[in-house]
Amino acid sequence: MLRTHTCGELRISDVNKEVTLSGWVQRTRDKGGMIWIDLRDRYGITQLMLEEGKTASEIITQVRNLGREFVIQATGIVTERFAKNDKMATGDIEIKLTALTVLNSAKLPPFQIEDKTDGGDELRMKYRYLDLRRNSVRKNLELRHKVAQQTRLYMDAQNFIEVETPVLIKSTPEGARDFVVPSRMNPGEFYALPQSPQTFKQLLMVSGFDRYFQIVKCFRDEDLRADRQPEFTQIDCEMSFVTQEDVLQMFEGLIRHLFKTVKNLELPEVPRMTYADAMKKYGSDKPDIRFGMEFCPLTASADRPNGGNEPDLVRGKGFPVFDAAELVVGICAKGCAEYTRKQIDELTEWVKRPQIGAKGLVYARYNADGTVKSSVDKFYAEEDLKKWVEAFGAEPGDLMLILSGEANKVRKQLSELRLEMGNRMGLRNPDDYKVLWVLDFPLLEYGEEDQRWFAMHHPFTSPKPEDIPLLETDLGAVRANAYDMVINGTEVGGGSVRIFQRPLQMQMFEILGFTPEEAKAQFGFLMEAFEYGAPPHAGIAFGFDRLCSLFGGADSIRDFIAFPKNNSGRDVMIDSPSRIDQKQLDELKIVTKM
Ligand code: AMO
Repeated sequence: MLRTHTCGELRISDVNKEVTLSGWVQRTRDKGGMIWIDLRDRYGITQLMLEEGKTASEIITQVRNLGREFVIQATGIVTERFAKNDKMATGDIEIKLTALTVLNSAKLPPFQIEDKTDGGDELRMKYRYLDLRRNSVRKNLELRHKVAQQTRLYMDAQNFIEVETPVLIKSTPEGARDFVVPSRMNPGEFYALPQSPQTFKQLLMVSGFDRYFQIVKCFRDEDLRADRQPEFTQIDCEMSFVTQEDVLQMFEGLIRHLFKTVKNLELPEVPRMTYADAMKKYGSDKPDIRFGMEFCPLTASADRPNGGNEPDLVRGKGFPVFDAAELVVGICAKGCAEYTRKQIDELTEWVKRPQIGAKGLVYARYNADGTVKSSVDKFYAEEDLKKWVEAFGAEPGDLMLILSGEANKVRKQLSELRLEMGNRMGLRNPDDYKVLWVLDFPLLEYGEEDQRWFAMHHPFTSPKPEDIPLLETDLGAVRANAYDMVINGTEVGGGSVRIFQRPLQMQMFEILGFTPEEAKAQFGFLMEAFEYGAPPHAGIAFGFDRLCSLFGGADSIRDFIAFPKNNSGRDVMIDSPSRIDQKQLDELKIVTKM
């Protein structure tokens, strides 16, 4: 080997040893008579030292010609440092150089390879291999490795076996858009890359594998955000002969194991909330429950604690906006009554941005002196506002923020405002982890644009047995045996109990608008498999990148992927996607118009 030790290894107990290290020159400091080099590798940094008059002059000349990021091999004697650095694991020692080999020179890197770099996002992505030399980025990938290893340990101990499923599969019309791959041997035909191994893992259950998992790449051609990549990784799992409760227990176990081994945190029992409650209380199916600030409706509505039997607190007072609204609902920001006019105007502008889309924001301050003042005082007397205070459970010093409009839209807008207030009030500490199961999702949602029903999770999700009769009468009311795991407002996993009988699966396809022929063409293999003794089964998939970014306390999953794509789905380092040769297109029998 080109080294006896790594750059993170040597301690005071190694003093007087002759050692050889190899690595990259992070920095040299030349103070006339003395020269120091910070030598870096994956494991840390070790200081090398030369002294004019003591170190051989050829070595000094060699060192004076070193540039940043040169790759060198250095031999010398471990010595106790005069000025120790307690911020470095190797800070007690340095190496007195006795020999040096330059293994490779390096061009000056386009940005500083330090924890705090001067490189912008795009530049770091273009030179991702240099970015990956930085401590902070490498640490993220080490964390990712650990999460993967611990996942495998847990799953193996629970008798799950890892099976690889194919990457070249078949395009399906449900879900997100597929990435497709042309087949040269079958001109005019295409494979699709899997959005998830869903049907394969179900087939493995039919095959009797009983407990399957896979840490697997999935591909979805959808608009990108901080927590979405076109290719991402799932911890994909499936089990046979289980109920929903068994799955929840098993994977709560996985998450508990990961928190313990990766973060050294004992997770309390994971609370559960129905989808309906999550929407009512937080306007979101992935509520961040690190803080309260629950929704408080002011219109007579089923959302109120007494199911809408309470009096309406806003309508009929001459304020046309509230009179016309389907729902008037607010949140109470504790201790924010002293927000300045400017701060409130800023919030109003914030909710009016197109991304949020509210028309305006009504506020009421419950002042410390007990008076209530609102932005709609013209319509509401103090005694009306006192009723709001009561409904909100507000205390003197609180600020009530209220939105109105069409119920579903308002809930979404208020959910965003709640998160924003959580940020502004410092209630979303990334080191505070709140895990939640959201249960009983609706089976179907209506797509206004396409004028048809869509599966909310996917077409293989089973309705709750007690809701099956509703499939004939009220599709929107059918609940699914489907569950999501949410951590700090991020959906980290989702799954369901599956349909495993052919007739119910056929009925589901029919509801989703497939003709029997289309269903057969798309999913004939699965329907047929269901006729050969399919066991009851259920499963879940976790977003592996999302889990890693949460454990790492970061918002963006990109930092936890070695070679991620940018927001336009491009890899700027290898410059992909890219055009292909006419010859290749001809072979594939693809005619392009561009
Ligand atoms: P679902 O579509 O909910 O379920 O995906 C499971 C989890 O994968 C993560 N995820 C993503 N992460 C990064 N980038 C993306 N583009 C992306 N899309 C999804 C999320 C999500 O919770 N086959 C089913 C699972 C099942 O039923 O067992 C499925 O794929 O964290």
